[in-house]
Amino acid sequence: GYRLKASPDVVGEDEIKSRFENRGEGHWAGCRLMYFPETGSTNIDAKKAAEEGAPEGTLVVTDCQNTGRGRRGRSWASPKGCNLYFTLLLRPDCKPEQACMLTLVMALAAAEAVEELGINAGIKWPNDIVAHGKKVCGILTEMSAEPDYIHYVVIGCGINVNQMDFPEEISATATSLALEKGERITRSALLLSIMEHFEKAYDKFRETWDLTALLPAYHSYLLNKDARVRVLDPKGEFCGTARGINEAGELLVEKEDGELARVYAGEVSVRGVYGYV
Ligand code: BTN
Repeated sequence: GYRLKASPDVVGEDEIKSRFENRGEGHWAGCRLMYFPETGSTNIDAKKAAEEGAPEGTLVVTDCQNTGRGRRGRSWASPKGCNLYFTLLLRPDCKPEQACMLTLVMALAAAEAVEELGINAGIKWPNDIVAHGKKVCGILTEMSAEPDYIHYVVIGCGINVNQMDFPEEISATATSLALEKGERITRSALLLSIMEHFEKAYDKFRETWDLTALLPAYHSYLLNKDARVRVLDPKGEFCGTARGINEAGELLVEKEDGELARVYAGEVSVRGVYGYV
C-alpha cells in the first residue's frame, strides 16, 4: 500500500464546497462559489461575474493568480499551492462613498479570523493585516458605480497562509501565517471563518452604513493607534500621531501644532516613522 506522509493542503473546489455547504442556515457570503485552479485575478473574475448578474455573496477563489493585483497599481505575487486568493461580490444599497469603508470591514473580519488561529494579528490602517510587524494579508476593493448608485463592489483578499519563503525584496516586510505560527494552516477552514466574521461585521455596518458599531473592534486591532506616522499626502507630506479612525474610516492624525487631520485612504498612504507599521 501507500503511506501518506502529510495530508496535502488542498484548497480544491470539493473541499471548499463541502465546508460551505455544511454550515448552518442563514449564511450568504459564499452562497455561490466560483473556483478556479488557476486564474489571472479573482477581482477581474468577480467583476465579470457581477456584470453577468451574479448575486451578492458570490465568492471567487483560486489557488494561483498569474496577474494578481495589489493596491496603487502594484502586482500581488500569487504562487500556487500555499496561499488564499479570493474575492467577495457585494451589491450594497448605500452611497459609493460609504462603500469605500467595506475594505475596513473585510480587514476586521480577516484580523478576527487570524487571531482565532492563535496568531497575534493587527491592522495597519486602512486594511493590511500584520503579524509580528510583517504583512500577511492585503485587500483590494473595487467598485462599479454611478454618482449615487452602486452596481457592485468586489473585495479581493490575498493572504500569505502556508508560504515558507519570500523573495528578498519583500522578506523584510512580508510573512505568512504558517511561519508565524510554526505550523501549517488549513486554507479552506480559514476562508470559511473569514466569511463568517465578515457576515457579522457587515450586519453591523449596515445598521448605519458606516463603521460606528465596529469602531471598538477595529481599534482593538489598529496598530497605528497612538503611534507616530508619516502621511504621504500628494498635497504635502506631514508627520503626526495617529489617534484612531472615525466612523467614516478616516485616520485621525494629530499634527505637531495640535490640529487633528482626517486622512482619507484613497489619496494617501501612511508609514510608521520607524518602519513599515
Ligand atoms: C494590497 O496591495 O495590499 C492588496 C492586495 C490584494 C490581493 C488580492 S488576491 C485576490 C484578489 N485578486 C487580485 O488580483 N488582488 C486581490
